[in-house]
Amino acid sequence: MPTVTQSSAIPSLGVGTFRLKDDEAYNSVTMALDVGFRHIDTAQIYGNEEAVGRAIKDSGVPREDIYVTTKVWNDKLNKAGFIDSVKESLAKLQLSYVDLLLIHWPSPENGESMEEYLGELRRAKELGLTKAIGISNFTVAQTEQAVRILGDGEIATNQVEVHPYLTNEKVRQACEKLGITVTGYMPFAVGKVLKDDTIIAIADKHGVTAAEVVVAWELAHGLVTIPSSTKRKNLEINFNALSLTLDAEDIAKIDALDCGDRQAAPDFSPQWD
Ligand SMILES: NC(=O)c1ccc[n+]([C@@H]2O[C@H](COP(=O)([O-])OP(=O)(O)OC[C@H]3O[C@@H](n4cnc5c(N)ncnc54)[C@H](OP(=O)(O)O)[C@@H]3O)[C@@H](O)[C@H]2O)c1
Repeated sequence: MPTVTQSSAIPSLGVGTFRLKDDEAYNSVTMALDVGFRHIDTAQIYGNEEAVGRAIKDSGVPREDIYVTTKVWNDKLNKAGFIDSVKESLAKLQLSYVDLLLIHWPSPENGESMEEYLGELRRAKELGLTKAIGISNFTVAQTEQAVRILGDGEIATNQVEVHPYLTNEKVRQACEKLGITVTGYMPFAVGKVLKDDTIIAIADKHGVTAAEVVVAWELAHGLVTIPSSTKRKNLEINFNALSLTLDAEDIAKIDALDCGDRQAAPDFSPQWD
């Protein structure tokens, strides 16, 4: 069985839970833990923290062996609501702490100042509600600002969209300079890139699936990645990607597929790089 390598303190391969509600979330996390995943990504806005928490508890896997991430939603970035919302997440998850707490999106139109919500994020860590803190969907300028506020070495990750059709080079390079691990979300562009001819040809060459190629490409770039699936077979495939090593030519071919095809672009998105 392949094992999860550590590209940082964050296990390099996790499982996402966006869109999964109730039984679907419970079953996905239950199967993922059984397959071998030990890193689970949820968020307040996904509305599934309760189901994720139950799946973790019922799995019998020791708490300390699982890396759990949740994210604070836009309406809780204010000083009045932030910490209580994290405590509510923990209650739903049936956990006394999460491993990683992220700001899901920079405050839309700076409704709250970054000093305010990053101050609350730091406080959540000081209170022991989370082991590590990070950001998500932050641009280069916002990431630099966040480092100025929190200091070097405080931000464990910037979780942003990364897949072969949106390689997000600028953000990745800036994060590398700042010593911040990038977590690539939506690695399959919600399935789109799995139909790509170049990726399928590389998969055929290695005798594997397109999904394994895409996950292996993310890992080859030193990214953490968190594909989601509702199917045991697909979770197994995604986990098996840990055993696949792509060559430099494969990686270059996939890099060249970038066409800026962004999937996650709500109207409150920042001005992307
Ligand atoms: N921070 C943020 O703002 C943000 C935004 C978006 C996502 N995320 C995180 O990133 C995670 C991943 O993104 P995502 O779930 O939106 O999309 P994704 O992982 O790119 O794609 C999921 C889709 O791929 C399919 N799939 C999974 N494994 C497959 C395989 N081996 N073969 C064929 N199809 C496969 C799934 O279908 P089946 O269920 O049928 O397998 C599902 O339709 C999310 O779950 C969430 O945790 C974070």
